[in-house]
Amino acid sequence: MQEQLTEGQVLKIMEKYDNDAQQLIAVLLDIQAASGANYVDERWSALTARVLNVPLSKIYDILTFYAMFSSTPRGEYVIEICKSTPCHFTKAEEVVGWFEQVLGIQMGGTTLDKKFTLSRTCCVGACDVGPVAKIGDEVYGDLTLEKVSTLVRSYREGLPSFREALACQN
Ligand code: FES
Repeated sequence: MQEQLTEGQVLKIMEKYDNDAQQLIAVLLDIQAASGANYVDERWSALTARVLNVPLSKIYDILTFYAMFSSTPRGEYVIEICKSTPCHFTKAEEVVGWFEQVLGIQMGGTTLDKKFTLSRTCCVGACDVGPVAKIGDEVYGDLTLEKVSTLVRSYREGLPSFREALACQN
């Protein structure tokens, strides 16, 4: 997916937060969500630094510290596999293998259609149903190869009803 944002749109995002530097993370999250490729382009980092009057290094620190951010383009959906110890013991690596198999990519890669990026995350608080994968705001647990295939198909074909029953209830 191509970068869709314009400078005017990025300025509007900052205005929505009253150009308040205290809202920097929220601003960056909105920019990332609006990018169309799940990342914060360096142009928008520089613009944000200028308008909110914060050091560019602070923005880079945020983009590199928080796993939810990326400064390089990613797929429309980022599939994050929990790598923390409880999930590790419940075979998270097997889940990684299933996603790699179904998506035809390696961990860290993005599918050719730019739909999916495979990534790792730390504990998302659903250890009792590990191993888990997080896609957007949804967490999916007790994964099997069949569930992984269903999830990927559901996101790829835009069929939310396929995955609703698989999501953990928060
Ligand atoms: S360790 Fe994976 S959700 Fe907690």
